[in-house]
Amino acid sequence: MASPWSWALLLLLCGTAASVDTWCGKAYRASDPAIDPGGRMAPPNLSPALLLDLRVRPRVQPYLEEDETGIIIIDAPLSYIRGQPYDNILVNQQSSANLKSSSNLSEPPPLTFDVYRSDTGRLITSDVKVAVNSTGTVVGFSMVTFPPSFSPYNISIASSGDGKYMASTQFLRLPDRTDGGSVTKIDSLHGALLVNTTESSWKNSVWKPLFPYSFYLNGNWLIENPNNMATFKNYGYNVLHIVPAGGLGYNFTQLDQWLDEAQRVGLWIMYDMRWTYQNSSLVEWQVNRLKVRQSLLLWYTADEPDGQVDPLDAPKRAYDLIKSLDPYHPISLCLNCENYYFEEYAAGADIILSDVYPIGTNSSWSTTYETACNITYGCCGCDNCVGYNNLSNVPARLDTFREYQTQLGLPQKPLWGAPQAFGNSEFWKQTPTWQEEIVMNMLSINHGAKGIIMWIFPTTPELTNWTSKLAQRLTDSLASFMLVAEMVSGLTVTGAPTVDASAWIHGDWMLLSIVNPSHENAVGPVAL
Ligand SMILES: *[C@@H]1O[C@H](CO)[C@@H](O)[C@H](O)[C@H]1NC(C)=O
Ligand SMILES: *[C@@H]1O[C@H](CO)[C@@H](O)[C@H](O)[C@H]1NC(C)=O
Ligand SMILES: *[C@@H]1O[C@H](CO)[C@@H](O)[C@H](O)[C@H]1NC(C)=O
Ligand SMILES: *[C@@H]1O[C@H](CO)[C@@H](O)[C@H](O)[C@H]1NC(C)=O
Ligand SMILES: *[C@@H]1O[C@H](CO)[C@@H](O)[C@H](O)[C@H]1NC(C)=O
Ligand SMILES: *[C@@H]1O[C@H](CO)[C@@H](O)[C@H](O)[C@H]1NC(C)=O
Ligand SMILES: *[C@@H]1O[C@H](CO)[C@@H](O)[C@H](O)[C@H]1NC(C)=O
Ligand SMILES: *[C@@H]1O[C@H](CO)[C@@H](O)[C@H](O)[C@H]1NC(C)=O
Ligand SMILES: *[C@@H]1O[C@H](CO)[C@@H](O)[C@H](O)[C@H]1NC(C)=O
Ligand SMILES: *[C@@H]1O[C@H](CO)[C@@H](O)[C@H](O)[C@H]1NC(C)=O
Repeated sequence: MASPWSWALLLLLCGTAASVDTWCGKAYRASDPAIDPGGRMAPPNLSPALLLDLRVRPRVQPYLEEDETGIIIIDAPLSYIRGQPYDNILVNQQSSANLKSSSNLSEPPPLTFDVYRSDTGRLITSDVKVAVNSTGTVVGFSMVTFPPSFSPYNISIASSGDGKYMASTQFLRLPDRTDGGSVTKIDSLHGALLVNTTESSWKNSVWKPLFPYSFYLNGNWLIENPNNMATFKNYGYNVLHIVPAGGLGYNFTQLDQWLDEAQRVGLWIMYDMRWTYQNSSLVEWQVNRLKVRQSLLLWYTADEPDGQVDPLDAPKRAYDLIKSLDPYHPISLCLNCENYYFEEYAAGADIILSDVYPIGTNSSWSTTYETACNITYGCCGCDNCVGYNNLSNVPARLDTFREYQTQLGLPQKPLWGAPQAFGNSEFWKQTPTWQEEIVMNMLSINHGAKGIIMWIFPTTPELTNWTSKLAQRLTDSLASFMLVAEMVSGLTVTGAPTVDASAWIHGDWMLLSIVNPSHENAVGPVAL
């Protein structure tokens, strides 16, 4: 815990940009005045009329040579933010009927689409029915006419007959790997990672959803005891994410031993390039060195680039470079600011982590710098958070990021949580209690997190104890169920307004997660 290394990691939170020290673009020293940092997402302009926001995306990416059929997902939500004019008379009838009586609504008829290959104009499939204001219609198609390639294919959908509504997307069908390296896919229907498990006896891939549940790990702890890698695995965590020290960050001789050991004990690797991701030659060297490892799960580039005010295009440049070297694994980064150039920084990853640390810090007054914290000033260790020890800031940020993606018209990138599992340093005068930790974990999951990587291990024995218990469940069939099920967030709870509930529904099964984020223990009967 008290090693100089982990201490150094924590002190790096508030960084420097230009001549004024800033975090999330805000000046934070009492000697500097507030400046408007800019970079905020503007609230969207609302259209006076309903729009049909037609979209199409591949369900899984990347597809491989071994995949003979692919799936596309068609979303056709009605929106006031973006889309094509939607003037279906039946919807108007429906809304006027609605005014009189909500008992008998007439559904508008479904839309019918044809699916084309954009380059040749060839029809792939036709007569696909999509309900108006629905999301997640899945359509299978044969990929035999799309030879494996490192370049993406374009496909389009157009409403049958009139072609009035159109959308297009790209997908990859990559050559199978022949070098023994792994492939990690993203299933965009529910945001899960898919990994090839080797459970089957025959030589075929079996893709299973994985819920990554782990910590950022201080490498010094692995040096302390040769059994620590196995100990970590036995706690139930399933990902090894070593935090690099400064400079190049690793002793690569030692790293190779660690990664071999991780593979032996069955830990997936999340490889962190936080100090080097802006140096293309170092990125290239590291990616080429690690990309054939069988246990590589994904890459991690920028750590809080928005807080540090890294160049806006830096994550995307690293992203493009890594994809050109290794199109077989996703790329992740972690954003710390609530509303600072989200679009630009998020462009640099397939998966966005959010690290909101609300425990033990006053989010409106920085005792570290003796300044106020507000939307244009100050650094309190929890950007634009509300309240003190307020656990709801954690899921609120995930909702905010999802909303930004909707406003930008982007396909939803999976969001992961990076909950606080440290304290008694800098801004944070306390370490979370085990109850706070479990609540932050579960609120993240209730609000759509598809992975959890806490900062930082080693943590307190209490937090190890309880996150280890949660790990046993989040890495078993329960998590697999959550990753294939339809999720319904924000269920209405009567009797206790602070209680947060979500459901996962698949076939005849439903899983409920009910979390009380209030620090007052007593909650009377509640009804869902
Ligand atoms: C409701 O709609 C059905 C047909 O869709 C119709 O037969 C029925 O009479 C309607 N009921 C009312 C109360 O309007
Ligand atoms: C796919 O679409 C993009 C963007 O419209 C275009 O630049 C690219 O050339 C197209 N590729 C193919 C293979 O049609
Ligand atoms: C479309 O669906 C959303 C979410 O399911 C719902 O809130 C909204 O009222 C629907 N819009 C219309 C015009 O039916
Ligand atoms: C999946 O695992 C099996 C068994 O190890 C292996 O034969 C196959 O090549 C793997 N497929 C991919 C795409 O990694
Ligand atoms: C790097 O790690 C190896 C293996 O643990 C060790 O033998 C070597 O001394 C380390 N090198 C440095 C510079 O620390
Ligand atoms: C990238 O790192 C290499 C090796 O440390 C160094 O020689 C080079 O100057 C760096 N490049 C940039 C642009 O910083
Ligand atoms: C947080 O700071 C505000 C402003 O200085 C102060 O009024 C409030 O009492 C502080 N809250 C806590 C819990 O320290
Ligand atoms: C934030 O606080 C600073 C310092 O008190 C103040 O100058 C600035 O006007 C505040 N900004 C907002 C948006 O309230
Ligand atoms: C806690 O945080 C949430 C999300 O930021 C906010 O809506 C709520 O008002 C806060 N509650 C308190 C008591 O500060
Ligand atoms: C670990 O959890 C158990 C309950 O399962 C409890 O009895 C024990 O005190 C906990 N240990 C710590 C260090 O929190």
